[in-house]
Amino acid sequence: MKTKSVKLQSLQGKSMSTLKHYQLDSAIPPYAAYLQQTEVRMLQLRKDHIISQAYILPIPYLCQIYHLLNLKHLETVHKFSLKGLKISNVSQIETTPIGGSIKFQTTLDPAVNILRVWRKPTIEVELILHTPYTIELNIPIYHNRKITIIFNMLPLADNIHKLFIDIYSNVIFPKPILQIILHCASCLTLFEDLPYLNELADGNPYRWVRSTRAGNLDTMQLFKRFVELYGSSLEQPQSSGAIELRPILDPVY
Ligand SMILES: [Fe+2]
Repeated sequence: MKTKSVKLQSLQGKSMSTLKHYQLDSAIPPYAAYLQQTEVRMLQLRKDHIISQAYILPIPYLCQIYHLLNLKHLETVHKFSLKGLKISNVSQIETTPIGGSIKFQTTLDPAVNILRVWRKPTIEVELILHTPYTIELNIPIYHNRKITIIFNMLPLADNIHKLFIDIYSNVIFPKPILQIILHCASCLTLFEDLPYLNELADGNPYRWVRSTRAGNLDTMQLFKRFVELYGSSLEQPQSSGAIELRPILDPVY
């Protein structure tokens, strides 16, 4: 595995500071339509905000999108943190003009998984592609409470992007302890993801775009939706082999 540096920046304060940093870090102003959609969703969740994190990753943005929308990687990459997790019953995708959502069941092996303290053995998780730069993951826990994770991605250059992670929960639990637990869990999850992301970065992302367009995997339906909406704009530059990220992902409405 290549050694690549990762910068972690702790974002203090409320989750909306994520969007402020997102705008400040953008080389050119982000599309208002996308930003507005993300802002509306983050405002809805604001009262349940627990933590924010941000990472600068020397990896193309398309690799991050592929990783987050590939359901199967939860089984294969997160073998330690989600030990024994199985994906099943993937629903048909519900589309929106600029994204879509999907639901699927995750089942834990109760004998080996500490996450059983927080959740039932089998739950239905929802993954939402809000915009080409914002993804949401909803995880139900006990007593009709849930954990919601918002991932915002900001391409900084051809082979580098910034990942903002905001975690929300309405669970009744002391917030400082929950913050520590979720900070640790988020760092561990990223640590597990790094070899996979590096592997993706070393491959050819355009090949996945082509193969996903033709493929019919349940677990890749959201990435397929991303490709349907934005794939034709993902043109391979002649010089560097890197991905031209902007302004190619024009709003589609
Ligand atoms: Fe992951």
